[in-house]
Amino acid sequence: MTGHLERPDWYRDAVVYTLNVRTFNDSDGDGWGDFQGLIDRLPYLDELGVDCLWLRPFYPSPLRDNGYDVADYYAVDERVGTMADFEAFIDAADDHGMRVLTDLVLNHTSTEHEWFQRAREDPFSEYHDYYLWTSHVEEAYNTMNIFPEFEDGVWSYDDVAEKHYFHQFYGHQPDLNVANPAVQEELFSILEFWLERGVDGFRIDAAHPMTLPKGHNATELEDPHWLFREMKRRARAVKHDAVLLAEADDEPHRLHEYFADGEAFDVLFNFVGNSHLTYGIGVKDTWPLHRMFDLLPEPSDTVWWANFLRNHDEWNLLKLPHETLEHAREYFRRGEGEEDSWVFGRGHRLRLADLYDGDHDRIAMAHSLLLSLPGTPIVFSGDEIGMGADLSLPERFAVRTPMQWDDSENAGFSTADADDLVLPVNDDDRFGFHHINVASQRDDPDSLLNRVSAAIEARHRCPEVAHGFFEVLDTGHKDVWAHRFHLDDSVLLTVHSFADEPRETVLEFDAPVGEQVLGDADYHVQDGGVTVWLDDCEYLWLRGDRDAW
Ligand code: NOJ
Repeated sequence: MTGHLERPDWYRDAVVYTLNVRTFNDSDGDGWGDFQGLIDRLPYLDELGVDCLWLRPFYPSPLRDNGYDVADYYAVDERVGTMADFEAFIDAADDHGMRVLTDLVLNHTSTEHEWFQRAREDPFSEYHDYYLWTSHVEEAYNTMNIFPEFEDGVWSYDDVAEKHYFHQFYGHQPDLNVANPAVQEELFSILEFWLERGVDGFRIDAAHPMTLPKGHNATELEDPHWLFREMKRRARAVKHDAVLLAEADDEPHRLHEYFADGEAFDVLFNFVGNSHLTYGIGVKDTWPLHRMFDLLPEPSDTVWWANFLRNHDEWNLLKLPHETLEHAREYFRRGEGEEDSWVFGRGHRLRLADLYDGDHDRIAMAHSLLLSLPGTPIVFSGDEIGMGADLSLPERFAVRTPMQWDDSENAGFSTADADDLVLPVNDDDRFGFHHINVASQRDDPDSLLNRVSAAIEARHRCPEVAHGFFEVLDTGHKDVWAHRFHLDDSVLLTVHSFADEPRETVLEFDAPVGEQVLGDADYHVQDGGVTVWLDDCEYLWLRGDRDAW
């Protein structure tokens, strides 16, 4: 394992890559990606520079929400392997110096989970109170469902229990009654179970909905963040550097609560950053980045962000000002009718390559900027080669098609019949696997893949990003972004141009000479400053030693 991942705050230096085992690589030709297939591809991830994998849910599930409908928290879906395969994967990841985070979905289960089955069959069973029921739905608390296009509300009738049950997501995802101490104990046990099997931490799904009022009387946890503090305590008791990453898309002024001064989550997804950053780069304007920094609590010993450009869900724009959201809805929109990219009234089911019109220069620059920001960068599987969405698939499946390894049948993902694949591979004229795949980019030094890999390597060489003092610089251009870090005697300056044409900028740089860490842009260091000449979408990371005057 590389040295920087030995520190207790290892997640600050790590470059995370997120994937779904089911769609990454199929080793046995049944059409489903599996743990053995993932093991076979670890050298690829190692070469890319990945330090940590975040695996999306791989537990037994009816897969009505891509595995976020868990039927058994203590097992591996047999279509992706066995527990022994999982353990072999953990060992293999360790051999490659990679940490592993898994997804834990604790806000709800699948209706197929045994707890729910027992709960609905017997109102006196201990499992009945694992969920939230009402016999008087017209008097019950009501709120918006998170999937408003598909669900009318948060109550569904169960004809076995002859009552309604509460669900903030799909009707097949009944909310757990997290105020019930027996449920809380179950959640802690699940955490402990997977830590004992070697994982390094968890992405806690739907952390915000876990804290919201639930059930007939809109019951609220007295101290909602106690649950997270206790998770951290229990997790750390098993593994001293276990990490909790929250999916908490809450209002910016409430985000600090999830960190609880270092006692609850270590890292939060930067949803504010995701909408602002990806939008700003797309519309070639840096104002959204300034706004993002204004809205968010600053990184500190107890506050840390997981930054990302896209993920496996819709690109959620709710954190943008309303008129910007409306602009983003139309500006980036693709497809019509059933193929419309706009979904849930809040975002696009598109990948980065769709948003940036297949422009590899812009996608590479976006990754370089992502990797240079304070926070832990997360790369969404397939974005490193510029995969696109398949809007002919329903809902968010559009952005979840199998990894495109090469231009052989099924994109090198599987040898099964195309009809047996877990999801069809993308074979469209633009982003399909004949055009976009790992094999064709691997040996080309200018490929998107190699540029993303070079940016990851630069991040590894620059501890300033995770540990330095951060400042935004004035570039004199609305489409050029620059920031700087100081760490001991070192200064690291990074400049990114969002423009479609060349730009010249003069920036403060308090070191006598610059070492070009990343990027080919021309620059000239003079007294206290540097002039940088950037072509369209060009970027430069420059490091100086202040002690060398
Ligand atoms: C967030 C996950 O990212 C999403 O895919 C899922 O549908 C919801 N949580 C519900 O678990």
